[in-house]
Amino acid sequence: MTAVLSLEQVSKQFPGVKALDNVSLTVAAGEIHALLGENGAGKSTLMKILCGIHQPDEGTIRLDGEPRRFTSYRDACATGVGIVFQEFSLVPWLSVVDNIFLGREPRNRLGLIRHAQMRAEANALFDRLEIDIDPEISVHRLSVADQQFVEIAKALSLNARVLVLDEPTAPLTPSEVERLFRIMRRLREDGVAMVFISHHLEEIFQICDRITVLRDGTYVDSCRVADTDHDALVEMMIGRRVENIFPPRQARAANSPLLLTAEIGLKQTDHTDSITLHRGEILGFAGLVGSGRSEFAMALIGAYPTRVAQIRLDGADVTFRSPADALDAGIGMLPEDRKRQGLILPFSCADNITLNHLGQFYRPAPFISRKQEAETVDAAMDQVRVKAPSAQTPVASLSGGNQQKVVIARWLDRGCRILIFDEPTRGIDVGAKAEIYTLMKRLAAQGIAIIMISSELPEITGLCDRVLVFSHGRIVAELADEAIEADTIMRHAVTEPRRNDVSHSVTEDA
Ligand SMILES: Nc1ncnc2c1ncn2[C@@H]1O[C@H](COP(=O)(O)OP(=O)(O)OP(=O)(O)O)[C@@H](O)[C@H]1O
Ligand SMILES: [Mg+2]
Repeated sequence: MTAVLSLEQVSKQFPGVKALDNVSLTVAAGEIHALLGENGAGKSTLMKILCGIHQPDEGTIRLDGEPRRFTSYRDACATGVGIVFQEFSLVPWLSVVDNIFLGREPRNRLGLIRHAQMRAEANALFDRLEIDIDPEISVHRLSVADQQFVEIAKALSLNARVLVLDEPTAPLTPSEVERLFRIMRRLREDGVAMVFISHHLEEIFQICDRITVLRDGTYVDSCRVADTDHDALVEMMIGRRVENIFPPRQARAANSPLLLTAEIGLKQTDHTDSITLHRGEILGFAGLVGSGRSEFAMALIGAYPTRVAQIRLDGADVTFRSPADALDAGIGMLPEDRKRQGLILPFSCADNITLNHLGQFYRPAPFISRKQEAETVDAAMDQVRVKAPSAQTPVASLSGGNQQKVVIARWLDRGCRILIFDEPTRGIDVGAKAEIYTLMKRLAAQGIAIIMISSELPEITGLCDRVLVFSHGRIVAELADEAIEADTIMRHAVTEPRRNDVSHSVTEDA
């Protein structure tokens, strides 16, 4: 095996956290190497060291056996190392081609940018990846998947021989994941060495050749994918077996009281859909990305334009002109996109938790002391097991999954009667997922009604008491208890509603 890349005994200390302790990783040409570990295990940090974004305290990076030390990302790129970041790094208002060549535009002798050359190179890259994107379109007009492909094109634009993909599949739909995998297989044939990070273990088995597992910043083991299985990997990652990540299904409290009914017709449509929600119930919104699940939920809390919105809460008619109204009535929604709607990255965990989602500071009642407030924050962080040095740590320096947990922690103490979770476990590792599921069950047992929007079928079938399936902007099926099966949900999710019922197409969730 020719190791294109090897990282040897790398260590990195951040203030208060030993992010990496003596970690090694070797990747061959034409290999897709999975880097696995729980949230905060050090995966992104190791990759950022490889790409010159962080400097290691100790350790060696070798490319083709030669020791290298990259002083910046640009430096790493120039040597053939590219990365697709866990957080998107494109500039939304620039064109695709400007993004790809940002900061290193080819220039002619007069110093003018060679546009035609850039366009031609971008097109050549897209051809190589077999993707069809207009290089002149501005990035914000692309779907999340296409943005992801532009990120890859950008990373490859300097003939990268090493390509790092940090959770590239998290925002993608299953068919987009397939497209990404096609691209990755093609790059593998070209001899590119890839490091692939994902919390979806089935993806690891589908696409990867070898695996390295990290735990708490230390190296656990490496093996071939063919020599391991799901349970063994989980045990390597979290150091114990997880028998059942879903809490046991309990018989649903029969006739649990009705809490909410809603009849909603989105603006620019001519149909309405109705839902009911009972106390202590977990109601799933299933369907493909773009099927209208998030829009329906947002319309419910006054965050999406409607033509009809008849909502009865606890027997009384209510009108929500904004999410603030809904929150006052005890309905909270945890957003899907934690970066744009959820968190203020430079603020501490504590401030993010005590900040309400409308961007105003939460003012504790006059008799609540700072100390009590700090205790509440600690309790909330504990409940979802945020891994951070302290509540005062800025959210920006947490790992991706731990940022998501802070979003959830914020809502726990709001005293909501209804909580809407939009893709609650995106980017969250298996162990933490199990904790979040248990938490949701616990909230339900306290009588809180939960609506969970999720694209992960196991989570829908494992957790929900009742499921509504969305397709093309409409609710096309309702399933309860034993009838909640993955196959049935998928069958409904891909069927078009009867033609004369369809009056609009819903915009992408993304
Ligand atoms: N810039 C930083 N400053 C301080 N601490 C950091 C910084 N970046 C990462 N850390 C800490 O280093 C540890 C490893 O984080 P890292 O982002 O590498 O985890 P990860 O394995 O990528 O997790 P996830 O699956 O959640 O993305 C975490 O404890 C994190 O809080
Ligand atoms: Mg990460």
